[in-house]
Amino acid sequence: MTGTQIRNAYLNYFTSENRNHQPIPPARLIPENDPSTLFTSSGMQQLVPYLKGEPHSMGNRLTDSQPSFRAEDIDEVGDNRHTTFFEMLGNWSLGDYFKQEQLPWFFEFITQVVGLDPNRLYVTVFAGDNTIPKDTESIEIWQKLFNTTAPAKPGIEGFDKNTKIYTYDATKNWWSRSGVPTNMPVGEIGGPDSEVFFDFDPEDKLHLHQQSPYKDQPCHINCDCGRFMEIGNSVFMQYIKTDAGFEPLPKQNVDFGGGLERIAAASQNDQDVFKIDLLYPIIQQLESITHCSYQDDANKPAMRIIADHMRAATILIAQGLTPSNKLQGYFLRRLLRRSLVKFNQLMKDDTQTNSLSHLVPAVVEIFSDTYLESVDTTAIQAVIDDEQQRFSKSLNKGMKIIAATDANQIDGKFAFDLYQSYGFPLEITEELLKEKGLTVDKDTFRAEFKKHQDISRSGSTGLFKGGLADHSDTIVKYHTTTHLLQAALRQVLGDHVQQMGSNITAERLRFDFKHTQKMTPEELKTVETMINEKIAADLPVNKAIMPKDEALKSGAIAFFRDKYPDTVTVYTIGNDPQSDWFSKELCGGPHVSSTGVIGPVTIKKEEAVGAGVRRIYVTLSQA
Ligand code: ALA
Repeated sequence: MTGTQIRNAYLNYFTSENRNHQPIPPARLIPENDPSTLFTSSGMQQLVPYLKGEPHSMGNRLTDSQPSFRAEDIDEVGDNRHTTFFEMLGNWSLGDYFKQEQLPWFFEFITQVVGLDPNRLYVTVFAGDNTIPKDTESIEIWQKLFNTTAPAKPGIEGFDKNTKIYTYDATKNWWSRSGVPTNMPVGEIGGPDSEVFFDFDPEDKLHLHQQSPYKDQPCHINCDCGRFMEIGNSVFMQYIKTDAGFEPLPKQNVDFGGGLERIAAASQNDQDVFKIDLLYPIIQQLESITHCSYQDDANKPAMRIIADHMRAATILIAQGLTPSNKLQGYFLRRLLRRSLVKFNQLMKDDTQTNSLSHLVPAVVEIFSDTYLESVDTTAIQAVIDDEQQRFSKSLNKGMKIIAATDANQIDGKFAFDLYQSYGFPLEITEELLKEKGLTVDKDTFRAEFKKHQDISRSGSTGLFKGGLADHSDTIVKYHTTTHLLQAALRQVLGDHVQQMGSNITAERLRFDFKHTQKMTPEELKTVETMINEKIAADLPVNKAIMPKDEALKSGAIAFFRDKYPDTVTVYTIGNDPQSDWFSKELCGGPHVSSTGVIGPVTIKKEEAVGAGVRRIYVTLSQA
C-alpha cells in the first residue's frame, strides 16, 4: 500500500462503527500558545489537557494523522529512515479502552489491513523498575496475538528469531515528552509503552548490523542498525509526575503514534522511506533539475536531506513561518540553508541558474488533499528564493573571510561559525584551507557542534527550563488574558481586528492582529483599562461544548489558521454566556475559572510586524 492509502485506511479503521473514533483535525506544526515546545512533534501534543482529565469536545475516542517536526533529528537525516518531518498516525483513548483493545487493534490493522507478515514483526514492552511494575499484561496480550508461549526476554541480550516479545527499561519503553521519568518536570504526564518493529532483512542477507556502528554489540531490535524499524508505539498514559514521585492520572489513557512513512516502507518491503509516494516525487523532481541519479549511492544522502527538508520547509512556510535567526524561524533557515548546500553540491558549477524553490510544486502536489490544500505555491517559492539569495551573499562573505585569514590553525569556533552562519560544512572549510596549508581545530568544532545540537533538541523537548508544568498557573492566566485582550481590541479599534498569531511565555504574552495604523497612547490606555476592569469584576469563565456552526452563529470568534472539529469547545467570559458576555472564542483551553485571579495587567509595547499587522506585549503583575 502507498502512504496515502495507509493514512486513509487507518482513519477508516478507527472511525468504523465497532471502533467508533472521532476524527480530529491535526494541530498546526507551530503550536499556538504552548510555550513548552517550538514545534508539534507528536500527535498527543494538542491533547495534553485531555489526557490530564479535561473532557474533549469530540468524546473519548479520537484519531488523526498529525504532521510532526522533530528538530533534534536534523543531523541524522541522510540515511534511509530518518526525517525531521513525518506523519504520525494517532488514536487515543481518553480514559476509555486500554491495553486489551489497543494492542489487538493495531496488530489487526498492520497484519490484516496493511498486510504485513506477522513473522516479520517483533514487539517490546516495559521491563519495570523500582516504582512502576513490569508490563506483564501487555506480554500476555502479545503472546496470544503471536500465538506463542515463548516468554519475553530482556531485549539488550540480543535478537533471537524464536522470541517475539522483548523487555527494555525506561530508556526504551517509557514515553513522555521529556523522555525518561527522571527528566520529567513535575506536572508532566507519561507512561510505559509497547513498540512494534518490522524486520526488513529476515535472512540477514544485507548484513546491516555487521556494517553498522553497533557491530561490536549483539544485534537487538532496538539497536538502530537499520534491520529493525519501529513502526508504532502504544503509550499507556497513566501517570503524572508529582513532587513525591508518580501518581496515577484520573483515567488510564492510550496514546498511540504510528510512523506513516515507515509503515508504508514496510508495506513495500523496502527500507528506504524516501521511495514511498509521500517523498519520492520530490526526489524525482530533484533528479530532473540536477541531472543526478538517485540510483547512484553517492547522491543519496544529499537528495534525501533536500527531500526531507523541503517537505518540512514548504509546510512551515505555508503555515506562516519565515526564515529568521530566532526560535522556529531559525530552524526553517537551517532547513533551507542545509538544503541549499546539498543542492549546490549536486548542481556542481550550475548553482546560480537554478532555484531550490522548483521543488515546491512537487511537495504541494503530494499534500494537495491534506495539509497543503489551496495554498499559494508562488508565495512559498518567493520566501525560498529570497533565502537562497541571502544565503548566496553570505557564502561569498564567508569565502572572503577564509581568504583573508592568516592564522596557522583555524579556531574550531570560527569554523563552526562558518558552518552555522554561512552553511560551510566542516569538510568544505578544510578543503579551502588545505590549499593554504592550514588545519582546523576539530575538537573545538565538535564541542560547539554538540552545544548547538543541545539547542536543537530544545526545539522539541522543552523550550523552558522545567517545562510547561512549572509555570502552568501563569500560562493559564496569560491564556485568558489573551482572550480579554482580543475582545478589548475589537471593541476599541473595530471588528476588523483579527488574531494573526499569539505566543505566551512565563514572562509575557505576545499577540499579533490585523490593524493598519499604529495605536495611539489613548487607544492603548483604553484597552488596558478595559481589560483591568474585566479582571477586577471577577467575571466567570464559562466552558461549553457545542456544534461548530452553532458556536460561530452565537458570535464566537475563531482563529483562521486553525482547523476545528465539528464539535468545539467555546470559552465565554461574562456574567451570562448567552446574553451578557465580553469575550467568546473557540478554544481548547485551559483557562482560569474567573478573571479575578489574573490580577492587574500592563501593556508593555505595541509595534508593527508586517504590512497591516501589529504586535502587542502584555505582562501580568502577579505572574
Ligand atoms: N506519543 C507517542 C510518540 O510520540 C505515541 O511516540
